[in-house]
Amino acid sequence: NANGSKAGKTRNIVEKLEEEGKNCIIFYGSQTGTAEDYAARLAKEGKSRYGLETMVADLEEYDYDNLDAIPNDKVVMFVLATYGEGEPTDNAVDFYEFIMGEDISFSEGNDPPLGNLNYVAFGLGNNTYEHYNSMVRNVNKALEKLGAHRIGDAGEGDDGAGTMEEDFLAWKDPMWAALQKKMGLEEREAVYEPIFGIVERDGLTPESPEVYVGEPNKMHLEGTPKGPFNAHNPYIAPIATSYELFNVKDRNCLHMEVDISGSNLTYQTGDHIAVWPTNPGEEVDRFLDILGLTEKRNKVVSVKALEPTAKVPFPTPTTFDAIVRYHMEICAPVSRQFLATLAAFAPDEESKAEMTKLGGDKDYFHQKVNIHHLNIARVLKSVSKGKPWSNVPFSALIEGVTKLQPRYYSISSSSLEQPKMISITAVVERQHLPGREDPFRGVATNYLLALKEKQNGEPNPCPFGLTYEITGPRNRYDGVHVPVHVRHSNFKLPSDPTKPIICIGPGTGVAPFRGFVRERRKQAENGETVGKTILFFGCRKSHEDFLYDKEWQEAKEVLGDKFELVLAFSREGPKKVYVQHRLKERSKEINELLEKKAYFYVCGDAANMAREVNTVLAQILSEERGIPEAKAEEIVKNMRASNQYQEDVWS
Ligand code: FAD
Ligand code: 2AM
Repeated sequence: NANGSKAGKTRNIVEKLEEEGKNCIIFYGSQTGTAEDYAARLAKEGKSRYGLETMVADLEEYDYDNLDAIPNDKVVMFVLATYGEGEPTDNAVDFYEFIMGEDISFSEGNDPPLGNLNYVAFGLGNNTYEHYNSMVRNVNKALEKLGAHRIGDAGEGDDGAGTMEEDFLAWKDPMWAALQKKMGLEEREAVYEPIFGIVERDGLTPESPEVYVGEPNKMHLEGTPKGPFNAHNPYIAPIATSYELFNVKDRNCLHMEVDISGSNLTYQTGDHIAVWPTNPGEEVDRFLDILGLTEKRNKVVSVKALEPTAKVPFPTPTTFDAIVRYHMEICAPVSRQFLATLAAFAPDEESKAEMTKLGGDKDYFHQKVNIHHLNIARVLKSVSKGKPWSNVPFSALIEGVTKLQPRYYSISSSSLEQPKMISITAVVERQHLPGREDPFRGVATNYLLALKEKQNGEPNPCPFGLTYEITGPRNRYDGVHVPVHVRHSNFKLPSDPTKPIICIGPGTGVAPFRGFVRERRKQAENGETVGKTILFFGCRKSHEDFLYDKEWQEAKEVLGDKFELVLAFSREGPKKVYVQHRLKERSKEINELLEKKAYFYVCGDAANMAREVNTVLAQILSEERGIPEAKAEEIVKNMRASNQYQEDVWS
């Protein structure tokens, strides 16, 4: 759609490749940034090792009706993540619809339509989900059907098995070899060439009005954020209330009410809210310190792409501190390939040898880095025994460290009851790992914990508390705020409120069901007839992590026998009791409700719980209806396809 192009930017791929003198374009369909990172890494490697003229492109930014006009001496790479229930990522929706379209037509009208096109494909998926890597599988099939030539195998990375990075590394070398052959490329010694130029701006200070110190964009910089608020532009929302839901010392689960009344944001019960986190001060310090940047942390720099098709992933001019604190995923797992790249900049020979070993030896890397959840700064520090890595070009860090990503939470309020107040139910990620003094802590949830503590004037009660910038860049927020946007989901109550629903939500999986139950309660209070709601909730112990127990009692008072809570406490008796065991105990009733077209919902852990619930449901149908299990599984599949069975799961 030519009209959709931004001023001065073409949506025509062929034109773009010509203009930029490129022979390899790497498209990414990315939701959490990993596919985007992999695309950038392929671009970098293609250029430095094989002399390809590469560029990375967001699938959203181009049209595809002239894919058939891409000359045969060029190659198109697709790095495609599958999201949720086998869906394309938000930025890949239009491309996916086009390529899967029944009446697809191309500008040149070749026969076969894509007979000229050379492509490479890698998918990012999670085998705990039903539609594993369906995006790359379907796109690959569609391209093959259209006559395109795939180079190398279509790779698949599995986040579920935790092998994404290794799957990618194992896939790419044979792919490069095949591409080399096909395009007659010569391999050369890879030399590091920075993609970004960093210029220190002596005339500016962090206080200068044009300097970004963490604002997401210009409107925020000017202190006048305006909508639309979306994945590129968060709303800085005040937190209205926040409190602890657990009754134990060493674990936290937060309930937060986020006020969106000052924005035009809307949500529906069952949607997701995205939280834009800030990195903890301790990790920002560690990172700047080991890279020898502490003294320069507040130095103003302009960052420019030296390569015209590359994009600087944050606004500039800015400071090192702001880049690291607000824009880099510095706490995340490190990639082996990145360690190998950084080896060239080691402060001494010993560190270089160790880094090369970590980068090259999968098992060694696993033992030394992975199992301790080390982030990049911790790896560098341990490898060089604290000696600063002052020779690492800052560009290499911008290239190698993922952009800080928003985290999604299933909204736990009802939009009918409170259309302008969104609630979050988040368990704080903290794990004690062997061989580490301090626990591993999740970025966003510990940030939310700090916000809650600040808001309630609590002295950091957690012995492992981290320090976060809470007042925002330039101390701009009075009161406690959190940057957010809303992502609409398909996880929805039946439009007919009289339909019965069965909800399975152990742990924080109960979040959207709090919204569902509150919605039905509100409907009942408004005089509507509501159908039966059964909620299966599971937690460890009734006195520790039983979420919203009082609220369920209140709902019961309004809804009476239209609401039933079924509980599974896993650590109270001699044997583990889980939600699926309780579900099984109610086989007869569950089957009857499903025959009456009850909707069936599952939320929470994708890795084990959601799968096991699926299996148990098939067993229930098989036994109650006297049909073979295979047939029952087929029925469950069809229930999913018709949205009678809906999942909102994460791992
Ligand atoms: P992160 O810092 O992102 O860490 C998360 C995990 O990544 C760690 O546990 C670890 O396994 C791995 N990891 C991170 N760094 C490293 C490292 N250096 N080395 C090795 N491994 C590492 N959560 C809720 O509590 N409530 C909800 O309602 C909810 N709803 C969700 C809905 C959706 C659709 C999705 C996708 C997720 C949902 N989540 C929910 C999960 C939530 O988005 C976050 O993933 C979770 O809160 C952890 O975020 P964090 O930033 O605190 O942890
Ligand atoms: P556990 O930790 O005692 O094993 C919320 O996390 C609840 O879900 C806890 O009671 C937890 O029990 C339980 N849980 C753990 N694994 C599960 C699984 N595979 N299926 C269902 N519930 C599970």
